[in-house]
Amino acid sequence: MRLYSILTILSATNLAHSFVVLPYIQIDYAHLIRVAHCKAKCSEKYGYPKIRQNLDGTIDEYFFVDTEEYKKCENGCLQFQHRRDMKRSNLTGETLQGAKFWLESTAHSGKVGSSPVSAVELMCQMPSATPDLDDSFEGLLGLTKIRPSGPVQYVVQWKQRTYALGYYDESQWITASVESDSMIKVDGMIPGVQYKFLVTVVGPAGKLGDTIQSDWTEISNILSVKAPGTPLIVKNGFNSEQGVVAHLHFPRTAYDSCYFRLQVKNATNSIVTDLRVDPTYSILLSHLEFDSSYAVTLSALTSDQNTATTPISVRFNSFQCKQVYGKGSLQCAPEPVSNIRVAIEANSTAMIKWTASAEPENILTYAITYQAYLGPCNKDPTTVYLAAPSTSYEMPLPRNVHCEFMFRITNYDAIGREAFAETRIAVMQEKLASSSYKVPLIAIGVSFTFLILAVFCFAVCRCCSKCPVKVAENKAKLTDYA
Ligand SMILES: *[C@@H]1O[C@H](CO)[C@@H](O)[C@H](O)[C@H]1NC(C)=O
Ligand SMILES: *[C@@H]1O[C@H](CO)[C@@H](O)[C@H](O)[C@H]1NC(C)=O
Ligand SMILES: *[C@@H]1O[C@H](CO)[C@@H](O)[C@H](O)[C@H]1NC(C)=O
Repeated sequence: MRLYSILTILSATNLAHSFVVLPYIQIDYAHLIRVAHCKAKCSEKYGYPKIRQNLDGTIDEYFFVDTEEYKKCENGCLQFQHRRDMKRSNLTGETLQGAKFWLESTAHSGKVGSSPVSAVELMCQMPSATPDLDDSFEGLLGLTKIRPSGPVQYVVQWKQRTYALGYYDESQWITASVESDSMIKVDGMIPGVQYKFLVTVVGPAGKLGDTIQSDWTEISNILSVKAPGTPLIVKNGFNSEQGVVAHLHFPRTAYDSCYFRLQVKNATNSIVTDLRVDPTYSILLSHLEFDSSYAVTLSALTSDQNTATTPISVRFNSFQCKQVYGKGSLQCAPEPVSNIRVAIEANSTAMIKWTASAEPENILTYAITYQAYLGPCNKDPTTVYLAAPSTSYEMPLPRNVHCEFMFRITNYDAIGREAFAETRIAVMQEKLASSSYKVPLIAIGVSFTFLILAVFCFAVCRCCSKCPVKVAENKAKLTDYA
């Protein structure tokens, strides 16, 4: 389906890695740095770089380690901690390699290079879906990267505080976990408590740059999912890869859910996608059609993705083709001529002028068709073809009769596609005055016709305020009068 392709699909997002904030489980930080160091070496040897698309369409290059070899190596890191003698440990292959990496790893590498991470935030929260953690919240810790991470591991620490009697009661840093992905699920957070996170990035050669702290983020006291906040704002865009796009923004906060349901529809089509938040702040809608109307609704989902909140919505029109490619481009459907003017000349002709919709080189030809639909004049259509640079046509008018004509200008573009605009011309019975005045009349919209009576009498026109008179607006086409 072409409407648009999105993004992170929820079913693929059940995070393999997560940790629970348990205040009384303190892991030794130095030990965990060494574990991270060993795992980073395994990542380098048995993982590989991969890309995924963020919600806003930007690309995140990360290190993929979900391989058998990596898992064995990681086991080697962990097992060998308890079996000092490598010969007797009977490890083989990648596991043995992991054990060797453990011997090469250290908790005190000192800093090497700079951190690929510029920020860490608790991006979202929602009541936990974990059975033993009823009445607590889960959320996602998101790391903003400033470059591809490379084969790194993230050591996560956290602390909590509560406000009571004018004071914050704050815990120490608690070392919690080593993670290989920059999207980290945190579970077991307590309503009303504030949390802060600290991340150390460790690569195969040791710690990378400085540690990064999040702000304090409070967990809601209300054990339910928050509906997304208004307003939804859409910004149109275009790029050569994805064509017509739009970015959907909403004021996302740390109180919002981690999961959203997005519906994008046009008059005939509707697509629903479930999304997981990431550190970016808009949602890319790609592969839209030019100059089309869309309605977008967004609702928050619970962590089991079964319940959605009341949706918020917005409507927008995508970019017009000519806004991207320029007026008259062959990339776009042809447009009709505009600004049609009719002047009745003293020698009983009507001078019809128009503004071309494209440069002459993009116009193949004009077809001028007119026929009387009212009065005694011949009702057969007359068609005349004009060369591309033409912007006027002189139409002979009957004398001394009252006739009304439909006048259509069809322009064919250089590849033969057509568009047309129409006007009507009325000829009154009165005798043409010997006047050289021109009567400027009639303007036409894209396929709308403004009916203006061209009264053929200048003496009357100049003394009576009703002339020329705009009588009606009409959408009728030439064929209606055939
Ligand atoms: C709605 O979108 C579909 C898929 O892109 C497209 O085929 C269809 O023409 C669109 N309908 C309207 C009325 O724009
Ligand atoms: C060592 O590993 C091999 C192959 O997995 C196994 O057959 C053997 O019993 C193991 N020896 C010890 C001492 O664990
Ligand atoms: C009619 O008059 C207009 C303006 O005076 C002139 O441009 C045009 O050539 C004339 N047409 C004929 C057929 O005489």
